[in-house]
Amino acid sequence: MFHGFAQVWTPVERAARLRRRPLSLVVAGERVVLFRDEAGQAAALLDRCPHRGVALSLGQIDGQGRIECPFHGWRFGRDGRCTHVPFNPQARCETLSATALPVRELGGLLWIYTAPGVQAPHEPVLDESLHSPDFVRFIAIQHWRAHWTRAMENMLDMPHLPFVHRTTIGRDLRKRMRSDSQMRIEWTPSEHGGQIRSTVDGIDGGAQLDFTRPNRMMLTIPIPGKRLRLHVACVPAAENETRMILLTTRDFLRWLPSGPIDNWLNARIALQDQAIVESSQPAEIPPPANERSVATDKPTLQFRKYYFDTLRNSDAQPRLVRLGKRALASALDAESEDGRVADAAARLRRDGDLPQAGHEQVDGAGAVLTTSSGRG
Ligand code: FES
Ligand SMILES: [Fe+2]
Repeated sequence: MFHGFAQVWTPVERAARLRRRPLSLVVAGERVVLFRDEAGQAAALLDRCPHRGVALSLGQIDGQGRIECPFHGWRFGRDGRCTHVPFNPQARCETLSATALPVRELGGLLWIYTAPGVQAPHEPVLDESLHSPDFVRFIAIQHWRAHWTRAMENMLDMPHLPFVHRTTIGRDLRKRMRSDSQMRIEWTPSEHGGQIRSTVDGIDGGAQLDFTRPNRMMLTIPIPGKRLRLHVACVPAAENETRMILLTTRDFLRWLPSGPIDNWLNARIALQDQAIVESSQPAEIPPPANERSVATDKPTLQFRKYYFDTLRNSDAQPRLVRLGKRALASALDAESEDGRVADAAARLRRDGDLPQAGHEQVDGAGAVLTTSSGRG
């Protein structure tokens, strides 16, 4: 479960998308349902009912903020505990739990910890720009048909700027680079990842990249007396699909409602990357020895080492010890392809068996201005 991406915190979606309806997402191959309890607090469960594996996200939220399975109406609280089993007043609810995931709402984003049924051993690592009220935050989301590791490496890569981004952030460098120019990359390990600085022919452009394990990059753009930071999270979704969460954060011109412009520029830069990254073969990054590398690849090689040493074989098992063998098998056999849930929701809705508000699919459209650090 969450194979290759287990026991880590990742943002998964903007918080404003989670309202009164269950929200179904695929994270690292696992279907997850998010909903809000009666106090408005975000909750996350594996999107499979412990009874017969049905997608809980097809259900509804009751008046007490519990999610009701669409099949037989079992209800579950934010901690996964079963609170009601219709027609079975003698049922031992404490043995019938759904599987909860640690969830937080921070910086306008929803975060989950990719290990079911546990307490997270630490909190997500956040730069001040993601939580301080001094900053405004603009969020945009894209869906790439690429393995998240290729997307992540692209975000840590400097020498592609004057090629892929010749019309945007790489324009200046393209003008001054010569055929014998030399880029030097400095990688400094940090507690949660590493810092990347670069010079070209001895000139430091002043920008700094920060990698935060497992899947985030922050670009600090040098503007005297001001703080402008771009964040990207490469979130593994279904196989070879990545949800790209792009944030622009700044502590100046806070009153300027320029979200659409910020997002447009961010999105334009990311689209330039997308076309290139999606063409990579194999889809997932291979071990370092399988591709040729040079000195300016140091940050991506550092990421590759982390990925192969730590993350690639990671796994998490749900704690279903209280279920009987038959129920366990049923839960584990559950369909995990997100499209099937979408089709089921569409069918139910078409037949009038599911309210229009009964299920929400991820489309990543739109842009949201967030000026507070959320509920988390
Ligand atoms: S109550 Fe969920 S499958 Fe029966
Ligand atoms: Fe790029």
